[in-house]
Amino acid sequence: MGAETTEAWSLLRGPAGTLQSTRHLDCQACLPSGCGNPEARVRAPREGAASGEGSPSLGPEPTSYFTTRLGRWPGGLSLSEHSPLRPSAQKGQSNLAWVPPAGRMDEEGLECGKPDFVLLDQVTMEDFMENLKLRFEKGLIYTYIGEVLVSVNPYQELPLYGPEAIAKYQGRELYERPPHLYAVANAAYRAMKRRSRDTCIVISGESGAGKTEASKHIMQYIAAVTNPSQRAEVDRVKDVLLKSTCVLEAFGNARTNRNHNSSRFGKYMDINFDFKGDPVGGHIHSYLLEKSRVLKQHVGERNFHAFYQVLRGCEDAELQKLHLQRNPALYNFTRQGAGLSALESDEKSHYLAVMEAMRVIGFSAEEVGSVHRILAAILHLGNIEFLETEEAGLEQGHVAVAEELLVDHVAQLTATPRELVLRCLLSRTVASGGRELIEKGHTAAEASYARDACAKAVYQRLFEWVVNRINGVMEPRGRDPRRDGKDTVIGVLDIYGFEVFPVNSFEQFCINYCNEKLQQLFIQLILKQEQEEYEREGIAWQSVDYFNNATIVELVERPHRGVLAVLDEACSAAGTITDRIFLQSLDTHHRHHPHYTSRQLCPTDKTMEFGRDFRIKHYAGDVTYSVEGFIDKNRDHLFQDFKRLMYNSSDPTLRAMWPDGQQDITEVTKRPLTAGTLFKNSMVALVENLACKEPFYVRCIKPNEDKVAARLDEDHCRHQVAYLGLLENVRVRRAGFASRQPYPRFLLRYKMTCEYTWPNHLLGSDRAAVSALLEQHGLQGDVAFGHTKLFIRSPQTLVTLEQSRARLIPIIVLLLQKAWRGTLARRHCRQLRAVYTIMRWFRRHKVRAHLAELQRRFQAARQPPLYGRDLVWPPPPAVLQPFQDTCQALFCRWRARQLVKNIPPSDMAQIKAKVAAMGVLQELRQDWGCRRAWVRDYLSSATDNPTASGLFAERLKALRDKDNFGAVLFSSHVRKVNRFSKSRDRALLLTDRHLYKLDPGRQYRVMRAVPLEAVTGLSVTSGRDQLVVLHARGQDDLVVCLHRSRPPLDNRVGELVGVLAAYCQGKGRALEVRVSDCIPLSQRGARRLVSVEPKPEQPEPDFRCSRGAFTLLWPSR
Ligand SMILES: Nc1ncnc2c1ncn2[C@@H]1O[C@H](COP(=O)(O)OP(=O)(O)O)[C@@H](O)[C@H]1O
Ligand SMILES: [Mg+2]
Repeated sequence: MGAETTEAWSLLRGPAGTLQSTRHLDCQACLPSGCGNPEARVRAPREGAASGEGSPSLGPEPTSYFTTRLGRWPGGLSLSEHSPLRPSAQKGQSNLAWVPPAGRMDEEGLECGKPDFVLLDQVTMEDFMENLKLRFEKGLIYTYIGEVLVSVNPYQELPLYGPEAIAKYQGRELYERPPHLYAVANAAYRAMKRRSRDTCIVISGESGAGKTEASKHIMQYIAAVTNPSQRAEVDRVKDVLLKSTCVLEAFGNARTNRNHNSSRFGKYMDINFDFKGDPVGGHIHSYLLEKSRVLKQHVGERNFHAFYQVLRGCEDAELQKLHLQRNPALYNFTRQGAGLSALESDEKSHYLAVMEAMRVIGFSAEEVGSVHRILAAILHLGNIEFLETEEAGLEQGHVAVAEELLVDHVAQLTATPRELVLRCLLSRTVASGGRELIEKGHTAAEASYARDACAKAVYQRLFEWVVNRINGVMEPRGRDPRRDGKDTVIGVLDIYGFEVFPVNSFEQFCINYCNEKLQQLFIQLILKQEQEEYEREGIAWQSVDYFNNATIVELVERPHRGVLAVLDEACSAAGTITDRIFLQSLDTHHRHHPHYTSRQLCPTDKTMEFGRDFRIKHYAGDVTYSVEGFIDKNRDHLFQDFKRLMYNSSDPTLRAMWPDGQQDITEVTKRPLTAGTLFKNSMVALVENLACKEPFYVRCIKPNEDKVAARLDEDHCRHQVAYLGLLENVRVRRAGFASRQPYPRFLLRYKMTCEYTWPNHLLGSDRAAVSALLEQHGLQGDVAFGHTKLFIRSPQTLVTLEQSRARLIPIIVLLLQKAWRGTLARRHCRQLRAVYTIMRWFRRHKVRAHLAELQRRFQAARQPPLYGRDLVWPPPPAVLQPFQDTCQALFCRWRARQLVKNIPPSDMAQIKAKVAAMGVLQELRQDWGCRRAWVRDYLSSATDNPTASGLFAERLKALRDKDNFGAVLFSSHVRKVNRFSKSRDRALLLTDRHLYKLDPGRQYRVMRAVPLEAVTGLSVTSGRDQLVVLHARGQDDLVVCLHRSRPPLDNRVGELVGVLAAYCQGKGRALEVRVSDCIPLSQRGARRLVSVEPKPEQPEPDFRCSRGAFTLLWPSR
């Protein structure tokens, strides 16, 4: 065993204290046992008290299946807390008073008896009955025998069903929760889903034992747990499945003395599932409808519900159309049960429910109308009486219908010609050789017989049509086995239970034969298989005797000699064979059969009548059958005339029910199979179908004959327990071993209780591991090892194992939680790390890609003369934005350097001046003459100043000598205006020392010299004019307009500003340059404004003064 295993094991063991403190009250993980209240658990009654078992050191009681089975339940419910069934007000079976049990449904205490009969201390009828009764009194109507569910009809609504209960059983194993129908349904569903096995649930029991109710609960469960993906098709199928029950019950159920809603037909329903376990379709097989009920019912019984529902439920107008009146007592067929009708309102609500169900299933309004008309026609048919008339001949009477209006009604409702209806009622057509047809009149008795046969047949065809119609809707649609895989199937069999009436006829015979067949199947599958399993597993054990009813089945169905064969023979014999002759024939054939007797064979038995009764000792009890009507019912004859009549109806629904009416009367057909043979064949097919499926059994028990709640008649139940073979079932199940489990499953459940098997064993086989586990517990003496399964003899062994397991479960839960939380955290951490790595690499990739792109684009940046001027910078990733900003600045400087490098030194001064001008004027002034060569000293230029450049040169020389300046920064003719508003022509000279105002008229004599340091700023306008205002410290502002340039009006203001600004920059001085279209002036303290007025007709620029403001008249062109 690895170190890890040892560590886990020691952790698992833990201190005893941990065990108790870590139990979770409602922890799912502590399931399957489910945690209860630990305190209550301590108080819970212990079985140990009875068996002298159980030590206080065991800690909290385990709450497992097996302890549950032994009656230890931790809920701590005292007897008084449980609410026993209370007898209801005896107002019929639906009026039920139930006080819900105080505990949860999975809380069963010792006082509730054993949930599995296998756990009985002794398997005797007394113990069995005691347990059954005890549980029944506590409202626990379900008990297991292994995997067989025994259910007792409570005859009252119990709070055991519904979504909450369904959720409790969903996905659970059979043994994890207290016995319930849902558990069986779930087991069948899981077996089907897990192993793709077809399964079936066989529900048996006598009439009124609760079979149909059980089948409904099973369907509800299946509907509730399927279709998690909410597919519309699945929902549709489920709807039809659920609603079909309601419709079938209306047409196939009736009130009998044993059950107010007794199924008068057998029903086997297949539900098809796709590979995901969702229902995709279904099919209903119906068996032997008791159609004689249409004509006649026993005292205290009723006809099929459908008749009463139509009479009570239809609207007045519709009833009128059907020529019916509400009172069922007015019709022969419903008169018997008229007084037994349910409340009229109930009948009406049932009627509405059936109508709704038919609508949901997909019956059209026309079809429903046809159904009503057919039911009405049957009722009218039943009221038709025949009279022998006077003119009757001697041999053959002439017969007439007593009330011809009824014939009209029947004809109208069946949409057939009236004359034909009348003819069919009063006579029959006989083919007498060849194509010759003879019409043969009925006697009154024959006519009544024909009428009854017709009524029965019409009802039966109606019922079959309803079933087929439902099947048509439920047929799995668009399924392709190659694409969707094979459908799996769950079959639910709800078939009539064993019946014994005061007078038993052919129907009871068939029903009881059916029950014999099913009992046979049960024996085959459960009892025989169980014994065979021991043999197969190589376990030595003693056989248990059980009553095998094969011999009774044989008595009924054996070819040539069986009761059905003898009956068929009697039916087919020529001449008039009476029921009595049939009975004699039976007597001869079965004279020595141990299960057959009759008055003839046992003359002393006065309970049978001579020539009428025979008795079969069924597995469920003796039943005396009256042979009266056997031959007739078996032959099930209906004159062809009726079939043709119906086939020729103009109602398409009715016509569709009678396809065989098409046959020509003269056609000689093979004798049709008898009702008995048909039934036998369908039974054989049914049993074959069930035998190839994995069976689950529900055995229903009827607690009393009076349909009252909370009363269990022991004798009555004992009889059922006996004939259902339940005791044998328990014995076989228990004889050797209370439980068996495949080795892997056993290990899965108990491996944590042994250090060699936890968490996984390293032994040679599962069997060896199981052996080691049992040895550690000292339990090896109480088990037997089969080839694949472990067989455990006493329940106590299981209890011990369960207790150990329950102690360890909380720690395992913690261990798993710890590991799982760690796993989750690590997974999260890994995910985060991965995210960051991805982010890092992504960024890296983006940066690389960006740099590569930069490199590619700027490869040509060194090419003169543009030096990459037009290159576009690609948008950088966010992280590179500052980097790119720096690069761009660097690039600009580098480019500037490249450009500047190529400028000749002689141009440098001009470039500097232009740069300085740009710095102050760019975007503020329209044009500042940057594209011109800046000459600066325009007055010395012969081109610009042709007449006086020599004079100016002389003046310049004199000034240079006097003021010792270095260079001329700027010179130009100007027009100036003074503070007296006088404008004159002057010249402006700017050297690196002074600003001179010269008079050009007088050899450029200096009129004013201002040291350059005193010049503080310049003002110019934003237009193209040449107005300049020079501001100097301690001086009046000098207002001039540069003029007389060549070419005229040349733009030189920018040059003046640039030269001065560059000079000041060089000296590190500030120069204020203002750009404004309305320049303020200061002259001797006076404030004035100067602005520019464009004037096209003005020859030369000049100033005008008005109201203390100067205006430069600028000759704009
Ligand atoms: N589980 C149940 N809970 C409440 N009432 C039930 C239950 N099972 C049967 N019954 C009652 O017993 C009556 C007969 O049951 P039903 O299933 O029709 O019998 P069966 O089909 O065996 O003849 C039902 O109408 C219903 O009143
Ligand atoms: Mg039923």
